[in-house]
Amino acid sequence: MKKKISFGVIGFGTVGSGVVKLYLDNLDEIKKKLPFDLRLKTIAEKTKTSKEGIKTPRSIKITDDAYELINDPEIDIVVELVGGKTFAKDFIISAVKKGKHIVTANKALLAEAGDEIFGLCEKNGVEIGYEASVAGVIPIIRSIKESLAGDRVENIYGIINGTCNYILTKMTEEGKDFDEALKEAQKKGYAEADPTLDIEGIDAGHKIAILTSLSFGKKVDFKDIYIEGITKVTNIDIKFASQFGYVIKLLGISKKQGDRIEVRLHPTLIPKTHPLASVRMEYNAVFVKGYASGSILLYGKGAGMMPTASAVLGDVISIARNIANETVATVPIRGYISKFIDKGDILNVTDIVSKYFIRLMVVDKPGILAKISGILGKKNISIASVIQEGRNDEGGAVPLVIITHETQEKKLRDALKEIEKLNITFDKPAFLRIEESL
Ligand code: HSE
Repeated sequence: MKKKISFGVIGFGTVGSGVVKLYLDNLDEIKKKLPFDLRLKTIAEKTKTSKEGIKTPRSIKITDDAYELINDPEIDIVVELVGGKTFAKDFIISAVKKGKHIVTANKALLAEAGDEIFGLCEKNGVEIGYEASVAGVIPIIRSIKESLAGDRVENIYGIINGTCNYILTKMTEEGKDFDEALKEAQKKGYAEADPTLDIEGIDAGHKIAILTSLSFGKKVDFKDIYIEGITKVTNIDIKFASQFGYVIKLLGISKKQGDRIEVRLHPTLIPKTHPLASVRMEYNAVFVKGYASGSILLYGKGAGMMPTASAVLGDVISIARNIANETVATVPIRGYISKFIDKGDILNVTDIVSKYFIRLMVVDKPGILAKISGILGKKNISIASVIQEGRNDEGGAVPLVIITHETQEKKLRDALKEIEKLNITFDKPAFLRIEESL
Protein backbone atom coordinates (compact mmCIF):
# COMPACT_ATOMS: atom_id res chain seq x y z
CA MET A 1 0.00 0.00 0.00
CA LYS A 2 1.20 3.50 -0.87
CA LYS A 3 2.13 5.37 2.30
CA LYS A 4 1.72 8.89 0.95
CA ILE A 5 -0.79 10.25 -1.54
CA SER A 6 -0.49 13.84 -2.67
CA PHE A 7 -2.95 16.15 -4.29
CA GLY A 8 -2.78 19.61 -5.79
CA VAL A 9 -5.42 22.28 -6.25
CA ILE A 10 -5.74 24.48 -9.34
CA GLY A 11 -7.71 27.62 -8.49
CA PHE A 12 -7.56 29.42 -5.14
CA GLY A 13 -10.93 31.16 -5.57
CA THR A 14 -14.02 30.63 -3.40
CA VAL A 15 -14.19 26.83 -3.62
CA GLY A 16 -10.42 26.32 -3.83
CA SER A 17 -9.99 28.41 -0.68
CA GLY A 18 -12.69 26.31 0.97
CA VAL A 19 -10.92 23.06 0.08
CA VAL A 20 -7.61 24.31 1.48
CA LYS A 21 -9.25 25.64 4.63
CA LEU A 22 -11.21 22.41 5.19
CA TYR A 23 -8.11 20.26 4.66
CA LEU A 24 -6.11 22.37 7.14
CA ASP A 25 -8.93 22.57 9.70
CA ASN A 26 -9.77 18.85 9.53
CA LEU A 27 -6.40 17.24 9.04
CA ASP A 28 -6.39 15.65 12.49
CA GLU A 29 -9.78 14.05 11.83
CA ILE A 30 -8.88 13.01 8.29
CA LYS A 31 -5.71 11.29 9.59
CA LYS A 32 -7.88 9.05 11.78
CA LYS A 33 -9.77 7.87 8.69
CA LEU A 34 -6.83 7.01 6.45
CA PRO A 35 -4.06 4.42 6.75
CA PHE A 36 -1.76 6.66 4.65
CA ASP A 37 -0.74 10.32 4.58
CA LEU A 38 -2.90 12.60 2.47
CA ARG A 39 -0.81 15.60 1.56
CA LEU A 40 -1.89 18.83 -0.07
CA LYS A 41 1.33 19.57 -1.90
CA THR A 42 0.72 22.44 -4.30
CA ILE A 43 -1.83 25.13 -5.09
CA ALA A 44 -1.82 26.86 -8.46
CA GLU A 45 -3.29 30.34 -8.74
CA LYS A 46 -2.24 33.18 -11.01
CA THR A 47 -2.25 35.72 -8.17
CA LYS A 48 -0.59 33.27 -5.74
CA THR A 49 -3.13 34.36 -3.12
CA SER A 50 -6.38 32.97 -1.77
CA LYS A 51 -9.51 34.88 -2.77
CA GLU A 52 -10.78 34.31 0.77
CA GLY A 53 -7.51 35.24 2.48
CA ILE A 54 -6.64 31.68 3.56
CA LYS A 55 -3.11 31.48 4.99
CA THR A 56 -1.18 28.34 4.09
CA PRO A 57 1.77 26.72 5.90
CA ARG A 58 5.19 26.67 4.19
CA SER A 59 4.76 22.97 3.47
CA ILE A 60 2.19 23.82 0.79
CA LYS A 61 3.73 25.34 -2.31
CA ILE A 62 1.87 28.06 -4.16
CA THR A 63 2.70 28.51 -7.81
CA ASP A 64 1.27 30.63 -10.61
CA ASP A 65 1.86 27.81 -13.09
CA ALA A 66 -0.81 25.09 -13.13
CA TYR A 67 1.35 22.93 -15.38
CA GLU A 68 4.01 22.75 -12.66
CA LEU A 69 1.47 20.85 -10.60
CA ILE A 70 0.39 18.63 -13.48
CA ASN A 71 4.00 17.76 -14.32
CA ASP A 72 4.91 16.90 -10.72
CA PRO A 73 5.30 13.08 -10.54
CA GLU A 74 4.57 13.13 -6.80
CA ILE A 75 1.06 14.51 -7.28
CA ASP A 76 -1.52 11.75 -7.69
CA ILE A 77 -4.74 13.78 -7.76
CA VAL A 78 -5.37 17.14 -9.43
CA VAL A 79 -8.32 19.18 -8.18
CA GLU A 80 -9.54 21.55 -10.89
CA LEU A 81 -11.46 24.51 -9.49
CA VAL A 82 -10.82 27.12 -12.15
CA GLY A 83 -14.19 26.70 -13.87
CA GLY A 84 -14.95 27.57 -17.47
CA LYS A 85 -14.62 25.43 -20.53
CA THR A 86 -11.29 26.35 -22.13
CA PHE A 87 -8.33 26.53 -19.72
CA ALA A 88 -9.95 24.05 -17.36
CA LYS A 89 -10.46 21.59 -20.19
CA ASP A 90 -6.85 21.90 -21.30
CA PHE A 91 -5.62 21.40 -17.71
CA ILE A 92 -7.78 18.34 -17.20
CA ILE A 93 -6.81 16.76 -20.51
CA SER A 94 -3.10 17.35 -19.84
CA ALA A 95 -3.41 16.00 -16.30
CA VAL A 96 -5.30 12.89 -17.40
CA LYS A 97 -2.71 12.20 -20.08
CA LYS A 98 -0.08 12.31 -17.33
CA GLY A 99 -2.07 9.67 -15.41
CA LYS A 100 -3.38 12.06 -12.75
CA HIS A 101 -6.73 11.38 -11.15
CA ILE A 102 -9.11 14.34 -11.28
CA VAL A 103 -11.56 15.99 -8.95
CA THR A 104 -13.64 18.82 -10.36
CA ALA A 105 -16.69 20.96 -9.63
CA ASN A 106 -16.89 22.05 -13.26
CA LYS A 107 -20.48 21.32 -14.28
CA ALA A 108 -20.29 23.38 -17.48
CA LEU A 109 -17.37 21.37 -18.77
CA LEU A 110 -18.84 18.00 -17.80
CA ALA A 111 -22.29 18.80 -19.20
CA GLU A 112 -20.93 20.04 -22.51
CA ALA A 113 -17.77 17.96 -22.99
CA GLY A 114 -18.31 15.13 -20.50
CA ASP A 115 -18.25 12.47 -23.15
CA GLU A 116 -14.76 13.47 -24.26
CA ILE A 117 -13.40 13.99 -20.72
CA PHE A 118 -14.93 10.84 -19.22
CA GLY A 119 -13.83 8.78 -22.23
CA LEU A 120 -10.27 10.06 -21.87
CA CYS A 121 -10.25 9.22 -18.15
CA GLU A 122 -11.45 5.69 -18.90
CA LYS A 123 -8.85 5.25 -21.61
CA ASN A 124 -6.10 6.35 -19.23
CA GLY A 125 -7.41 4.31 -16.29
CA VAL A 126 -7.84 7.34 -14.03
CA GLU A 127 -10.72 8.32 -11.82
CA ILE A 128 -12.64 11.58 -12.00
CA GLY A 129 -14.67 12.70 -8.99
CA TYR A 130 -17.39 15.23 -9.78
CA GLU A 131 -19.67 15.16 -6.75
CA ALA A 132 -19.28 18.94 -6.26
CA SER A 133 -20.45 19.66 -9.80
CA VAL A 134 -24.11 19.04 -8.92
CA ALA A 135 -25.94 20.47 -5.90
CA GLY A 136 -22.90 21.41 -3.81
CA VAL A 137 -22.57 19.21 -0.77
CA ILE A 138 -25.48 16.86 -1.59
CA PRO A 139 -24.06 13.37 -2.29
CA ILE A 140 -26.26 12.81 -5.32
CA ILE A 141 -23.62 11.53 -7.77
CA ARG A 142 -22.41 8.83 -5.39
CA SER A 143 -26.00 7.95 -4.42
CA ILE A 144 -27.05 7.34 -8.01
CA LYS A 145 -23.81 5.60 -9.04
CA GLU A 146 -23.39 3.40 -5.99
CA SER A 147 -26.32 3.31 -3.57
CA LEU A 148 -28.89 2.96 -6.38
CA ALA A 149 -26.73 0.73 -8.59
CA GLY A 150 -29.16 -2.16 -8.12
CA ASP A 151 -32.21 -0.02 -8.76
CA ARG A 152 -33.48 1.96 -11.74
CA VAL A 153 -34.03 5.71 -11.59
CA GLU A 154 -37.34 6.72 -13.16
CA ASN A 155 -37.73 10.44 -12.43
CA ILE A 156 -35.58 13.22 -11.01
CA TYR A 157 -36.72 16.63 -9.81
CA GLY A 158 -34.01 19.00 -8.61
CA ILE A 159 -33.73 22.43 -7.08
CA ILE A 160 -30.13 22.71 -8.19
CA ASN A 161 -29.21 26.36 -8.30
CA GLY A 162 -28.66 28.03 -4.94
CA THR A 163 -28.65 31.56 -6.36
CA CYS A 164 -32.05 31.18 -8.05
CA ASN A 165 -33.57 29.44 -5.05
CA TYR A 166 -32.28 32.27 -2.86
CA ILE A 167 -33.78 34.91 -5.18
CA LEU A 168 -37.16 33.16 -5.47
CA THR A 169 -37.31 32.67 -1.69
CA LYS A 170 -36.61 36.36 -1.06
CA MET A 171 -39.23 37.39 -3.66
CA THR A 172 -41.82 34.99 -2.21
CA GLU A 173 -41.29 35.57 1.49
CA GLU A 174 -40.21 39.20 1.64
CA GLY A 175 -41.59 40.60 -1.60
CA LYS A 176 -37.99 41.64 -2.50
CA ASP A 177 -37.31 42.63 -6.00
CA PHE A 178 -35.28 40.45 -8.28
CA ASP A 179 -32.17 42.64 -8.66
CA GLU A 180 -31.84 43.27 -4.94
CA ALA A 181 -32.09 39.55 -4.14
CA LEU A 182 -29.53 38.72 -6.84
CA LYS A 183 -27.07 41.24 -5.39
CA GLU A 184 -27.42 39.58 -1.97
CA ALA A 185 -26.80 36.11 -3.44
CA GLN A 186 -23.69 37.42 -5.20
CA LYS A 187 -22.41 38.98 -1.98
CA LYS A 188 -22.85 35.67 -0.18
CA GLY A 189 -20.69 33.88 -2.77
CA TYR A 190 -23.45 31.68 -4.25
CA ALA A 191 -23.54 33.10 -7.75
CA GLU A 192 -21.26 32.20 -10.65
CA ALA A 193 -18.62 34.74 -11.69
CA ASP A 194 -21.09 35.56 -14.47
CA PRO A 195 -24.48 35.49 -12.67
CA THR A 196 -26.43 35.30 -15.94
CA LEU A 197 -25.40 31.63 -15.94
CA ASP A 198 -27.47 31.26 -12.77
CA ILE A 199 -30.51 33.39 -13.55
CA GLU A 200 -30.87 32.24 -17.16
CA GLY A 201 -30.85 28.62 -15.98
CA ILE A 202 -27.64 27.56 -17.73
CA ASP A 203 -25.91 26.45 -14.51
CA ALA A 204 -28.87 24.36 -13.37
CA GLY A 205 -29.28 23.11 -16.96
CA HIS A 206 -25.72 21.78 -16.82
CA LYS A 207 -26.52 19.99 -13.58
CA ILE A 208 -29.72 18.34 -14.83
CA ALA A 209 -27.79 17.24 -17.95
CA ILE A 210 -25.22 15.50 -15.73
CA LEU A 211 -27.89 13.89 -13.55
CA THR A 212 -29.89 12.71 -16.56
CA SER A 213 -26.90 11.12 -18.21
CA LEU A 214 -25.87 9.41 -14.98
CA SER A 215 -29.36 8.20 -14.06
CA PHE A 216 -30.37 6.78 -17.40
CA GLY A 217 -26.99 5.74 -18.84
CA LYS A 218 -27.44 8.03 -21.82
CA LYS A 219 -25.33 10.62 -23.59
CA VAL A 220 -27.22 13.88 -23.35
CA ASP A 221 -26.60 16.61 -25.86
CA PHE A 222 -26.82 19.77 -23.75
CA LYS A 223 -28.35 21.68 -26.67
CA ASP A 224 -31.36 19.30 -26.65
CA ILE A 225 -32.39 20.37 -23.16
CA TYR A 226 -35.10 23.00 -22.83
CA ILE A 227 -33.76 25.72 -20.51
CA GLU A 228 -35.61 28.75 -19.17
CA GLY A 229 -34.30 30.84 -16.28
CA ILE A 230 -36.12 32.91 -13.67
CA THR A 231 -35.73 36.40 -15.14
CA LYS A 232 -39.35 36.53 -16.36
CA VAL A 233 -40.91 35.37 -13.07
CA THR A 234 -42.74 38.33 -11.56
CA ASN A 235 -44.00 39.09 -8.06
CA ILE A 236 -47.51 38.84 -9.58
CA ASP A 237 -46.84 35.24 -10.68
CA ILE A 238 -45.59 34.36 -7.23
CA LYS A 239 -48.64 35.92 -5.57
CA PHE A 240 -51.18 34.19 -7.81
CA ALA A 241 -49.33 30.86 -7.68
CA SER A 242 -49.64 31.09 -3.91
CA GLN A 243 -53.39 31.77 -4.13
CA PHE A 244 -53.75 28.56 -6.14
CA GLY A 245 -51.70 26.62 -3.55
CA TYR A 246 -48.35 26.54 -5.33
CA VAL A 247 -44.82 27.89 -4.92
CA ILE A 248 -42.53 28.68 -7.84
CA LYS A 249 -39.17 26.90 -7.93
CA LEU A 250 -36.53 26.69 -10.63
CA LEU A 251 -36.79 22.95 -11.18
CA GLY A 252 -34.71 20.52 -13.21
CA ILE A 253 -36.98 17.72 -14.37
CA SER A 254 -35.89 14.47 -15.95
CA LYS A 255 -38.24 11.57 -16.65
CA LYS A 256 -37.88 8.30 -18.49
CA GLN A 257 -40.71 8.13 -21.04
CA GLY A 258 -40.36 4.69 -22.59
CA ASP A 259 -37.31 4.85 -24.85
CA ARG A 260 -37.29 8.63 -24.75
CA ILE A 261 -36.26 11.10 -22.05
CA GLU A 262 -38.13 14.21 -20.99
CA VAL A 263 -35.58 16.65 -19.62
CA ARG A 264 -36.15 20.31 -18.97
CA LEU A 265 -35.22 23.14 -16.63
CA HIS A 266 -37.57 26.01 -15.96
CA PRO A 267 -39.51 27.88 -13.25
CA THR A 268 -42.19 25.44 -12.13
CA LEU A 269 -45.25 25.65 -9.90
CA ILE A 270 -45.23 22.86 -7.35
CA PRO A 271 -47.80 22.22 -4.59
CA LYS A 272 -47.00 24.01 -1.32
CA THR A 273 -47.41 20.66 0.43
CA HIS A 274 -44.62 18.92 -1.52
CA PRO A 275 -41.33 18.52 0.41
CA LEU A 276 -39.48 20.41 -2.36
CA ALA A 277 -41.64 23.47 -1.62
CA SER A 278 -39.97 23.86 1.76
CA VAL A 279 -36.47 24.04 0.26
CA ARG A 280 -35.55 27.67 0.89
CA MET A 281 -32.70 30.14 0.35
CA GLU A 282 -29.43 28.74 -1.05
CA TYR A 283 -30.43 25.17 -0.20
CA ASN A 284 -30.74 22.60 -2.97
CA ALA A 285 -32.65 19.35 -3.01
CA VAL A 286 -32.86 16.44 -5.38
CA PHE A 287 -35.98 14.29 -5.35
CA VAL A 288 -35.37 10.94 -7.00
CA LYS A 289 -37.98 8.29 -7.78
CA GLY A 290 -36.57 4.83 -8.25
CA TYR A 291 -38.30 1.68 -9.50
CA ALA A 292 -37.71 -0.13 -6.22
CA SER A 293 -36.70 2.68 -3.87
CA GLY A 294 -39.74 4.89 -4.34
CA SER A 295 -39.17 8.55 -3.43
CA ILE A 296 -35.86 9.75 -2.02
CA LEU A 297 -35.14 13.35 -1.04
CA LEU A 298 -31.57 14.59 -0.67
CA TYR A 299 -31.23 18.07 0.80
CA GLY A 300 -28.32 20.37 1.55
CA LYS A 301 -26.43 23.52 0.67
CA GLY A 302 -26.05 23.74 -3.07
CA ALA A 303 -23.61 26.60 -3.16
CA GLY A 304 -21.01 28.35 -1.05
CA MET A 305 -17.37 27.93 -0.15
CA MET A 306 -17.40 25.31 2.63
CA PRO A 307 -20.30 23.02 1.56
CA THR A 308 -18.85 22.69 -1.94
CA ALA A 309 -15.38 22.15 -0.45
CA SER A 310 -16.78 19.28 1.61
CA ALA A 311 -17.93 17.49 -1.56
CA VAL A 312 -14.57 18.11 -3.26
CA LEU A 313 -12.50 16.82 -0.36
CA GLY A 314 -14.78 13.77 -0.04
CA ASP A 315 -13.96 12.90 -3.65
CA VAL A 316 -10.22 13.43 -3.05
CA ILE A 317 -10.32 11.04 -0.09
CA SER A 318 -12.38 8.45 -1.93
CA ILE A 319 -9.95 8.43 -4.87
CA ALA A 320 -6.92 8.44 -2.53
CA ARG A 321 -8.30 5.33 -0.80
CA ASN A 322 -8.71 3.59 -4.15
CA ILE A 323 -5.16 4.54 -5.17
CA ALA A 324 -3.84 3.20 -1.87
CA ASN A 325 -5.79 -0.05 -2.30
CA GLU A 326 -4.92 -0.29 -6.00
CA THR A 327 -8.62 -0.48 -6.81
CA VAL A 328 -9.05 2.57 -9.02
CA ALA A 329 -11.91 2.74 -11.51
CA THR A 330 -13.95 -0.14 -10.12
CA VAL A 331 -17.11 1.98 -10.27
CA PRO A 332 -17.74 3.21 -13.84
CA ILE A 333 -17.30 6.97 -14.05
CA ARG A 334 -20.81 7.46 -15.45
CA GLY A 335 -22.41 4.64 -13.46
CA TYR A 336 -22.89 2.55 -16.61
CA ILE A 337 -20.18 0.77 -18.60
CA SER A 338 -19.28 2.92 -21.62
CA LYS A 339 -20.24 0.45 -24.33
CA PHE A 340 -23.82 0.49 -23.05
CA ILE A 341 -24.11 4.29 -23.02
CA ASP A 342 -25.84 5.48 -26.19
CA LYS A 343 -27.33 8.82 -27.20
CA GLY A 344 -30.49 9.79 -25.33
CA ASP A 345 -33.56 10.59 -27.43
CA ILE A 346 -34.75 13.82 -25.81
CA LEU A 347 -38.39 14.83 -26.15
CA ASN A 348 -38.97 18.30 -27.58
CA VAL A 349 -40.56 20.60 -24.99
CA THR A 350 -43.52 21.29 -27.29
CA ASP A 351 -44.39 17.58 -27.09
CA ILE A 352 -44.57 17.43 -23.29
CA VAL A 353 -47.89 17.19 -21.50
CA SER A 354 -48.35 19.39 -18.45
CA LYS A 355 -50.73 21.56 -16.49
CA TYR A 356 -50.14 25.28 -17.09
CA PHE A 357 -50.43 28.61 -15.27
CA ILE A 358 -51.31 31.35 -17.76
CA ARG A 359 -50.91 35.03 -16.83
CA LEU A 360 -52.59 37.62 -19.03
CA MET A 361 -52.75 41.36 -18.45
CA VAL A 362 -56.14 42.39 -19.85
CA VAL A 363 -58.63 45.25 -19.83
CA ASP A 364 -61.49 44.41 -17.49
CA LYS A 365 -64.35 44.49 -20.01
CA PRO A 366 -67.38 42.24 -20.60
CA GLY A 367 -66.68 39.40 -23.03
CA ILE A 368 -62.89 39.26 -22.60
CA LEU A 369 -62.88 36.05 -20.57
CA ALA A 370 -65.36 34.47 -23.01
CA LYS A 371 -63.05 35.24 -25.95
CA ILE A 372 -60.05 33.76 -24.15
CA SER A 373 -61.84 30.67 -22.93
CA GLY A 374 -63.31 30.23 -26.42
CA ILE A 375 -59.82 29.94 -27.92
CA LEU A 376 -58.68 27.55 -25.19
CA GLY A 377 -61.83 25.46 -25.72
CA LYS A 378 -61.27 25.33 -29.48
CA LYS A 379 -57.80 23.89 -28.83
CA ASN A 380 -59.32 21.36 -26.43
CA ILE A 381 -57.55 22.94 -23.46
CA SER A 382 -59.62 22.52 -20.34
CA ILE A 383 -59.61 25.26 -17.68
CA ALA A 384 -59.21 24.09 -14.07
CA SER A 385 -59.53 27.49 -12.32
CA VAL A 386 -59.44 31.23 -12.98
CA ILE A 387 -58.67 34.30 -10.87
CA GLN A 388 -59.13 37.82 -12.10
CA GLU A 389 -57.84 40.71 -10.05
CA GLY A 390 -60.36 43.42 -9.11
CA ARG A 391 -61.34 46.16 -11.50
CA ASN A 392 -58.91 48.90 -12.43
CA ASP A 393 -60.96 52.13 -12.55
CA GLU A 394 -58.59 53.91 -14.93
CA GLY A 395 -59.15 51.20 -17.54
CA GLY A 396 -55.59 49.89 -17.09
CA ALA A 397 -54.46 46.32 -17.18
CA VAL A 398 -55.61 43.75 -14.63
CA PRO A 399 -54.09 40.31 -14.26
CA LEU A 400 -56.15 37.35 -15.37
CA VAL A 401 -54.68 34.05 -14.29
CA ILE A 402 -55.83 30.69 -15.60
CA ILE A 403 -54.83 27.22 -14.50
CA THR A 404 -55.35 24.55 -17.13
CA HIS A 405 -55.76 20.81 -16.90
CA GLU A 406 -53.12 18.69 -18.61
CA THR A 407 -52.54 19.50 -22.23
CA GLN A 408 -49.81 19.26 -24.83
CA GLU A 409 -47.50 22.29 -24.79
CA LYS A 410 -47.77 22.72 -28.56
CA LYS A 411 -51.52 23.30 -28.22
CA LEU A 412 -51.04 25.77 -25.38
CA ARG A 413 -48.47 27.78 -27.35
CA ASP A 414 -50.80 27.90 -30.39
CA ALA A 415 -53.71 29.05 -28.23
CA LEU A 416 -51.62 31.82 -26.63
CA LYS A 417 -50.53 33.04 -30.08
CA GLU A 418 -54.20 33.33 -31.07
CA ILE A 419 -55.05 35.12 -27.83
CA GLU A 420 -52.20 37.57 -28.46
CA LYS A 421 -53.64 38.34 -31.90
CA LEU A 422 -56.97 39.41 -30.33
CA ASN A 423 -55.24 42.57 -29.11
CA ILE A 424 -56.95 42.43 -25.74
CA THR A 425 -53.80 41.76 -23.73
CA PHE A 426 -51.29 44.42 -22.68
CA ASP A 427 -48.22 42.16 -22.50
CA LYS A 428 -47.35 39.02 -24.36
CA PRO A 429 -49.30 36.19 -22.67
CA ALA A 430 -47.00 34.44 -20.18
CA PHE A 431 -47.16 30.88 -18.97
CA LEU A 432 -45.43 28.63 -16.47
CA ARG A 433 -45.55 24.85 -16.16
CA ILE A 434 -47.11 23.09 -13.18
CA GLU A 435 -45.73 19.82 -11.83
CA GLU A 436 -48.46 18.27 -9.78
CA SER A 437 -47.74 14.61 -9.29
CA LEU A 438 -44.08 14.57 -8.38
N1 HSE B 1 -23.85 29.33 -8.74
C1 HSE B 1 -24.16 28.02 -8.30
C2 HSE B 1 -25.46 28.08 -7.51
C3 HSE B 1 -23.05 27.50 -7.43
O1 HSE B 1 -25.95 29.18 -7.23
O2 HSE B 1 -26.03 27.05 -7.22
C4 HSE B 1 -23.05 26.02 -7.27
O3 HSE B 1 -22.94 25.34 -8.47
